[in-house]
Amino acid sequence: MPDTALAQRPASGTDLGDAKAVYHALYEGADPAVAASYLEDRLAEAATLPCDLPATLDEMGQWIARHTDAVGTEYRAYLAARKSGAPRRYFKTRSQALYFLKAVAPTKLVDGAWLYGVLDRWQDPDYQALIRIYLEELGNGVPDKNHVTIYRKLLEQHGCEHWQGLPEPHFVQGAIQLALAASADDFLPELVGYNLGYEQLPLHLLITSYELNELGIDPYYFTLHVTVDNADTGHAHTALEGLKRVLPRVGDSAAFLRRVADGFRLNDLGIGTVEAIASFDLERETVAMLAAKAAVGKNMHSDYCRVAGRTINDWLADPAQIPQFLEKLEQQGWIRRGEPAENSRFWKLIHGERAEMFGVFSAYEQQLLEDWIVTPRGGGEPQIARVPSHRALRRSLDTLESPPSRNNAPRGVIRHTFPADEHAWQTIGCELRLLEAQLAATASKDEAMALLIGLMAPNQHHTSAGLMATRVFTRLAQ
Ligand SMILES: [Fe+2]
Repeated sequence: MPDTALAQRPASGTDLGDAKAVYHALYEGADPAVAASYLEDRLAEAATLPCDLPATLDEMGQWIARHTDAVGTEYRAYLAARKSGAPRRYFKTRSQALYFLKAVAPTKLVDGAWLYGVLDRWQDPDYQALIRIYLEELGNGVPDKNHVTIYRKLLEQHGCEHWQGLPEPHFVQGAIQLALAASADDFLPELVGYNLGYEQLPLHLLITSYELNELGIDPYYFTLHVTVDNADTGHAHTALEGLKRVLPRVGDSAAFLRRVADGFRLNDLGIGTVEAIASFDLERETVAMLAAKAAVGKNMHSDYCRVAGRTINDWLADPAQIPQFLEKLEQQGWIRRGEPAENSRFWKLIHGERAEMFGVFSAYEQQLLEDWIVTPRGGGEPQIARVPSHRALRRSLDTLESPPSRNNAPRGVIRHTFPADEHAWQTIGCELRLLEAQLAATASKDEAMALLIGLMAPNQHHTSAGLMATRVFTRLAQ
């Protein structure tokens, strides 16, 4: 949702703390002055934060290796504890894991954005390492490998697409990333420092991957980052290479490194992963979800549906009544808290293909309700049914799938990813042919690259045209 008023606002440096508005404005391509002003404010905010990045390049390689070792040791201790019966560290319920996917969506949906601005330097050998990281974030234009596409699919699969109402702190990291995308020329050292911090392997990435799989949720987006962020050949290593290549040899390298540290600190602003997970409150989320649903459902029920003498429409007319409504449903036996969800009549109304309210609640919303029902009122351990892990689910699906028929046409990447709808396919095909024609009409390689770079922006690269542009750029830039 673009905020045009904000986009037109001059860079004042004082009134841009509104991360959500800045995020949306920058996503839609606001004036670069907005980005610069936002970054200056965030850099000032981060200036007092501690920073363990070494002051010299020589020490940084060892620092990365030490950090990775420490994370590995902590992860082994976590696995040993789990093996001895310790509970999950992050996700008490499956709905908390799905909430986490939603809570970090503003950041994940602009994954890699901070490096967009370096594409313009495609002819300069010193920028190849940074450009390579950006292209890998974009999956080199292969739809199934594009990080943003992978995350969008994950959100859709679990009904977690409605993240726009998250509180402001959830948008800070995404806004910083988009601001760096628009200000690469003026904030290059900060961009390189931010990249160096972002690409280090964090412990939470390993644990979230493990626990998501355990809860039957595909951890691919996260496991992918465990492998690409490695210190040997992955992004952590490439990020340091990127810094080494752009560090001034003639100019003031010490001043450059101080600004690198400033950019590194930006990683600590806003809400972090662990904090985002901990911000989940099952009761609050369930009530908020039902209150939002009430706005649509308040006129949808017939008058013979009554709870505690009042019609459902009457209960839903005021979202503030939801907690009381839930209490009445419980008192009248529609909901049996602390028992398996199947014991509740209310659950049978919403869950299953023959349910009267089938399709009203998304997968995430149903999971919230199920976890809320199975949790005893006043707390206590929820009566959670065991779910097969994602890996176990995948194995059974692989067994069920029949071997490919020889008569079927091979399913290429493009055919596999694009929708089956004939009209949509024609539109996309038309777009791609048009791009081909535009590229063919360019007068020089510079002009062609500029056209492609425009389509590789954070809000474009995951579209069919953006993916194609990325594939062509990857070939031409070599
Ligand atoms: Fe990524």
